[in-house]
Amino acid sequence: MLGLLTPTPDGWIDAALSNLDAVLLDHLHCELKAASNATALVARYPMFPTLVRSLSDLAREELLHVQQVFDELERRGVRAHPPGEDPYALALRRATQGDTPRAEHGALLDRLAIGALIEARSCERFKLLEKHAPTEALREWYGELFASEARHFRLFASLAEDAVGQELARKRIAQLAEREAEIVERLPLEPRVH
Ligand SMILES: [Fe+2]
Ligand SMILES: [Fe+2]
Repeated sequence: MLGLLTPTPDGWIDAALSNLDAVLLDHLHCELKAASNATALVARYPMFPTLVRSLSDLAREELLHVQQVFDELERRGVRAHPPGEDPYALALRRATQGDTPRAEHGALLDRLAIGALIEARSCERFKLLEKHAPTEALREWYGELFASEARHFRLFASLAEDAVGQELARKRIAQLAEREAEIVERLPLEPRVH
């Protein structure tokens, strides 16, 4: 799905459903990081008009998701707290270090490629939650999140192509997708989005 080279391991959905509160707590921070990553890219690359407009829209949408997740936590009586470490995002960022393409805007390419892969993996997992979450309201909500993450994956991939050209962008996303697959297979199955 969406350029991912390995499906989420079978046990993940069981781990997630065994503690949906923990998934939502992690999800809150994922949405916040998505918003702040988008604004950081706008701050760093204001010379790309399409990027400025589309990522400021994206940041707004991710902040709406923050509020939706927060509402759900409140409904469930779960208190939010600051995030612990995020081994998936950390490993993925490390996976780009050392061989970032030397092309002009190679560093931007890597940030967009990582953004695309994170959106793709969230998208895949929201699909599983859309299918298996315990209530109709949750299933519907995860369905909406699935659709927006699919759009976000396409946006990051197309911004990468705008920045460095289609060939290099696709090649690098495919290369990082291989590393992402290794990370997903290696990480323990826990009640978190990633
Ligand atoms: Fe989101
Ligand atoms: Fe997103």
